[in-house]
Amino acid sequence: MTTPIPQCNPLAAYEANAEQIDAAIREVLSSGRYILGPHVASFEQAFSRWIGASHGLGLANGTDALEISLRALGIGEGCAVITTSMSAVATAVAIRKTGASPLFADIDEEHGLIDPTKVDALFDAETTPIRAIVPVHLYGRCVDMGTIMDIAIKRGVPVVEDCAQAHGARWAGRMAGTFGKIGTFSFYPTKNLGAIGDGGALVTNDQTLLERARLLREYGWKQRYVSETEGGNSRLDELQAAILEVKLARLEADNKARRGIAALYRLNISHPDVQVFRGDDEGHVYHQFVVRSASRDALQAYLATKGIGSLVHYPAAIHQQPAYSDKAYSPVSLPNTERWSETVLSLPMYPQMREEDAMRVIEAINTWVPSR
Ligand SMILES: Cc1ncc(COP(=O)(O)O)c(C=O)c1O
Repeated sequence: MTTPIPQCNPLAAYEANAEQIDAAIREVLSSGRYILGPHVASFEQAFSRWIGASHGLGLANGTDALEISLRALGIGEGCAVITTSMSAVATAVAIRKTGASPLFADIDEEHGLIDPTKVDALFDAETTPIRAIVPVHLYGRCVDMGTIMDIAIKRGVPVVEDCAQAHGARWAGRMAGTFGKIGTFSFYPTKNLGAIGDGGALVTNDQTLLERARLLREYGWKQRYVSETEGGNSRLDELQAAILEVKLARLEADNKARRGIAALYRLNISHPDVQVFRGDDEGHVYHQFVVRSASRDALQAYLATKGIGSLVHYPAAIHQQPAYSDKAYSPVSLPNTERWSETVLSLPMYPQMREEDAMRVIEAINTWVPSR
């Protein structure tokens, strides 16, 4: 019996750093300080410095990070926010939680990322005032931020980058999260930087936005027990911050390991029915390695018989899900997005994955015989 290869492996990420993580946990436990303590402050500083932004704010999760960012920018009821329907549903959840409506632009066929030309066209077509753009750096690859920023400047709207899948990704050498007004991150355990539970953050160069977001993070408090504005509770745990500090020190190495696995896949997967993107992958941090196939479901089932895990990101685009099927959210058709969700497959990808396991995945794909 061959050992199964999981699609992702948060346990391996813990085991690789177990000694330091255990020590960090013990240190927090015995400190008696469990909420918004020194580890949250030092992680915020270390993370924002690593990203190349002036400020960071630790939050409870990536969905809150997006919602709080949009609220800090004054986005709410009566506004539309352009984003992609090919994302985690969380992107739309966060927009709706502000009271605004998502407006989905189609993706490019090559990478599955929001297509800037489609973003620009929506401004001319739409009647609801469009107040922001939320590009999603899906799978660890950056959206063309040069074009997105040109459009945002031309249209006079802010950009909030959803970097939940793109810790350390770069576009033209510059880090994801530093192009727009705010960059938001998730530290869900399987992310490139993952906590042992939930966590999130935003980064910004704008001190005023930072302070607004800080109020929104904790009941609107500038001063304890005095709510200046209607906030919520989205505090990052001290325990998670201490764990994230340990893992942040490994993130460059982890991203490099992901790129190593991706290089093996890119070089060696060779099957007429499996499409691998072989163009430029500069700046890609491979949160996911995706392939496409018209027989995707059959490929996934076949890989499962070989003990190889895979996932579909995402089997239904957001606008295809009942809660977000309102025609107002997708006033134009999204054919690329719909084709993408029918054909895409995420192969096993995690930094601790062994080269021989990647070769097993490659061998399995290359010897797959699809039934005709
Ligand atoms: C693209 C994207 N945006 C937002 C989120 C939300 O993050 P969280 O699960 O931490 O709320 C996720 C994570 O699932 C994501 O992948």
